[in-house]
Amino acid sequence: MSNNPICFFDSGIGGATILKEVIKLLPNENYVYYADSKNNPYGNKTKKELFKIASNNIDNLIKYNPKLIVCACNTMTEVVLNKIRKKYPNIIFVGTEPAVKVIHDKYQDKKTIILTTKATGESKRFKMLFNNYKTDNTTLIKAPLLASLIENNKNTYPYLKKILKDYKGTEVVVLGCSHFPLVKDEIKEILGNVIFIDGSIGIANRVKSLLENNINKENGSIKIISTDLFTKNKILKIIKKDDET
Ligand code: DGL
Repeated sequence: MSNNPICFFDSGIGGATILKEVIKLLPNENYVYYADSKNNPYGNKTKKELFKIASNNIDNLIKYNPKLIVCACNTMTEVVLNKIRKKYPNIIFVGTEPAVKVIHDKYQDKKTIILTTKATGESKRFKMLFNNYKTDNTTLIKAPLLASLIENNKNTYPYLKKILKDYKGTEVVVLGCSHFPLVKDEIKEILGNVIFIDGSIGIANRVKSLLENNINKENGSIKIISTDLFTKNKILKIIKKDDET
């Protein structure tokens, strides 16, 4: 049915950076966003733990009869999405991967950092992607504390300063976690005016192409399932915020 929702999940507010781009392309859809803040950070969990959490998130979303489910999380995509697709063969999933290929295709000559969670950086799937598309100018930096600092509304500047201080002169930053676009300003304060790359626009295009003739014609809605009101309001703020750089 064309008015069935497009569902999303992530370990809290991060996936809203993707939801925002999807809404821009498909403004009349019904959306259900599952903000699993209680299990944040996903990036420091084992594959077994992540599979259990992803299954639980999906079981909660299946009740809404989704048209498709966006795994709005690089960590889940890299570590367990293949296995999840096998467990739920009737559901269409769209995953989120660090945009390493963009560097290969467009920014070969630019000094680049790829920022990921610990689990993403250490996953087999990401390592393959990285080894296939990294350039001589690419450095991988794992940031195990960043997603939880962002989720918990903490000051990220001192931590970012610590992990990025040796990378002055960087020209491109790949944001390999859906929480990381939320700290572009802090990264710019440390590295200057870099080019940011994240996968959200690509995901929005992918969602649109998968829906083809199944687009909702009536007015859409947004339902946010979250542990608390603060998280819900934060998500609403992210999806309404005007674009900056
Ligand atoms: N936002 C998720 C990602 O894209 C998860 C971050 C986390 O909870 O560690 O990887």
